[in-house]
Amino acid sequence: MKEFDLSTHVFFGENSLERLEWCENKRIIIITDAFMEKSGVVDKLKARMDGRGNEIFVFSKTVPDPPIEVIAEGVKCLAECQANVMVALGGGSAIDAAKAVRVMADRMGFGHIEECFAIPTTSGTGSEVTKFSVITDSAKGVKYPLVDDDLQPMVAILDPELVSTVPPAITADTGIDALVHALEAYVSTEATDFTDALAEKATTLLMKFLPLAYKDGNDLLAREKVHNAACLAGMAFNAAGLGICHSIAHQIGAKFHISHGRSNAMVLAEVIRFNADLEAVGKGHRNISARKYQRMAKLIGLPYVNNLVAVNALTRRIEEMKRMFGIPATLKDLDIDPVDVSELRSEMVQNALKDKCTQTNPRPVSEEDIAKILNKITPLV
Ligand SMILES: [Fe+2]
Repeated sequence: MKEFDLSTHVFFGENSLERLEWCENKRIIIITDAFMEKSGVVDKLKARMDGRGNEIFVFSKTVPDPPIEVIAEGVKCLAECQANVMVALGGGSAIDAAKAVRVMADRMGFGHIEECFAIPTTSGTGSEVTKFSVITDSAKGVKYPLVDDDLQPMVAILDPELVSTVPPAITADTGIDALVHALEAYVSTEATDFTDALAEKATTLLMKFLPLAYKDGNDLLAREKVHNAACLAGMAFNAAGLGICHSIAHQIGAKFHISHGRSNAMVLAEVIRFNADLEAVGKGHRNISARKYQRMAKLIGLPYVNNLVAVNALTRRIEEMKRMFGIPATLKDLDIDPVDVSELRSEMVQNALKDKCTQTNPRPVSEEDIAKILNKITPLV
């Protein structure tokens, strides 16, 4: 028996922030970061909820890779204001932090949130519809991925207005992250007809509209489609899991402080080639991932006459997108010292193997396989 559920209620499209106007007689805590508060987005949300007996509180101390201390401060703030509604506003980190605050406050008996809204201001992580949250122990330099059904937000609001000012580089990095979510969920060992449908739609939307949103941030249709696609991709991987592109990207991000999306972008094509096992396919062996990539190539209008042609076309398209977005091919292009990479290589390989995402990768993977993929983007010294 398998299962699939979509427990988050999604409001999307122009003016979807209107949903906040339904709140009445609530004690509302907005959890976000300082930039959102300074840039006036918090005020925009407050204006939607002011009056009607609502009381609004703001906790704006979330930061990228939210550390445990910030979560604890958020729990304290929630306990003090006794909020019963939470609005998580921001990029993936802010939403992750808010989700963790909600669950921890509840488990520790400090407060109970009856309704939780997640409002993303970037199009990438899909955190608004997932049961995942990543928090960091900064003292130990360790990231803890939390997985719990209670982390899943009850309501997601995808208003394209909130992403219209995201700069091109962040649009590209976050958009590629969403693309990787879709493509990894699509071939995952846990993929089903339900997650495939989500991954296929997310990929076709991203391939068409991400370059448009990158070139012209004011193209609201492209912004809306990319925003929806990131959410669809989130739903896909929430149920199907991810793969070794994320396992390796987590290591690159942690060691060299390269953004999550960019780290993923650097290894995606190589991981697709590995999962498709092109050498074996060339000798006539069957490979389910290669067949699925072929189906995806067909859907996005690429050549697909056979597995080999399709996988090559798909990886070529990804390389083209990377070039368009100015994403470099190797870590050396990012001025990272090859000696540092060499010293960390074996630790990165080990950690990538242990990463949770490796469990759902479609092709079994060895130390040597991970090292080979890493070598493609890190010069050997
Ligand atoms: Fe991701």
